[in-house]
Amino acid sequence: MSGDGGREIWVTGAGGYLGHEFVKTCAREGVSSRLLGRDQGIDLSRPFDLDERFEGLFSSPAEDRIVFHLAAMSRWEDCEREPDTAARVNAEATGALAAAIRRFGGRLVYVSTDLVFDGEHAPYDEESDPRPASIYGRTKRLGEVSVLAEPRNLVIRLPLLFGPSFDGKRGAGDSILARIRNGEPVVLFRDEWRTPLHVARAAEMVLAEGLDPGTKGIRHLPGPERLSRLELGLRLIREAGLDDSLVEEGSRLDMPGVPRPRDCSLSTLYPPPGS
Ligand SMILES: NC(=O)c1ccc[n+]([C@@H]2O[C@H](COP(=O)([O-])OP(=O)(O)OC[C@H]3O[C@@H](n4cnc5c(N)ncnc54)[C@H](OP(=O)(O)O)[C@@H]3O)[C@@H](O)[C@H]2O)c1
Repeated sequence: MSGDGGREIWVTGAGGYLGHEFVKTCAREGVSSRLLGRDQGIDLSRPFDLDERFEGLFSSPAEDRIVFHLAAMSRWEDCEREPDTAARVNAEATGALAAAIRRFGGRLVYVSTDLVFDGEHAPYDEESDPRPASIYGRTKRLGEVSVLAEPRNLVIRLPLLFGPSFDGKRGAGDSILARIRNGEPVVLFRDEWRTPLHVARAAEMVLAEGLDPGTKGIRHLPGPERLSRLELGLRLIREAGLDDSLVEEGSRLDMPGVPRPRDCSLSTLYPPPGS
């Protein structure tokens, strides 16, 4: 895929859950995008190598360069287990990308998370103070800070995403549905609340917000309602026509390690894109 006119759109994390939907959305909307991933020699766990790579990719002038930065070490447990890698991928590499765009021109659109909040003061709007409780949240917040140093950049905080994934293993629903289909029990937390959003809708809104140069700073894209993990899981199981008798209610406090935040529900001070 190539840029169109003076516009040059780049995407990191195109091979991920959201990235797959994002690239499909771009194609549907007639937006040409270029991939910025491992196949292009971009390994975010080696941020010290990135300057040279970005220089090679971004040094040609583009009237309107927008980089959608979706790539991340995105799993809570992976980040807790490998905090140094999480810091390199989520924080340092984002800083290197922000610096390259500052140097060569363009705007960075960074996809972040509701988990930059502590879960004790929901709902959180764009002016709420981030206070991350996990390595994942802390490293994503550090990425945000690098991005926000440039006023034209945009940080989009997404809630928990659900909806089918390309490999059947990602998002809030796929692994639950797979276990139920296999006749295995599923424990769902009654005491973890989020404002979940369908991944396809998230991709559409990230593209719309990112392409609008007037949208800067921080934007939240909450889903339509606040749901517990239990409520969301039961809804997805029933919508799939599956039997919910294998669902067991649980508590996030029963999990080993850092407790997941209680309620990271997002709200927004702005109208939804396209309204
Ligand atoms: N899923 C959610 O519920 C959710 C909620 C809120 C915010 N977010 C945010 O949304 C974004 C996308 O999340 P996702 O769920 O789509 O994650 P995902 O499925 O885990 O995809 C992550 C992407 O990042 C890339 N990546 C990871 N480490 C990399 C590295 N060292 N070098 C280069 N690329 C690397 C992966 O590339 P490979 O495919 O090559 O491994 C993959 O394309 C993330 O920024 C995440 O923080 C997600």
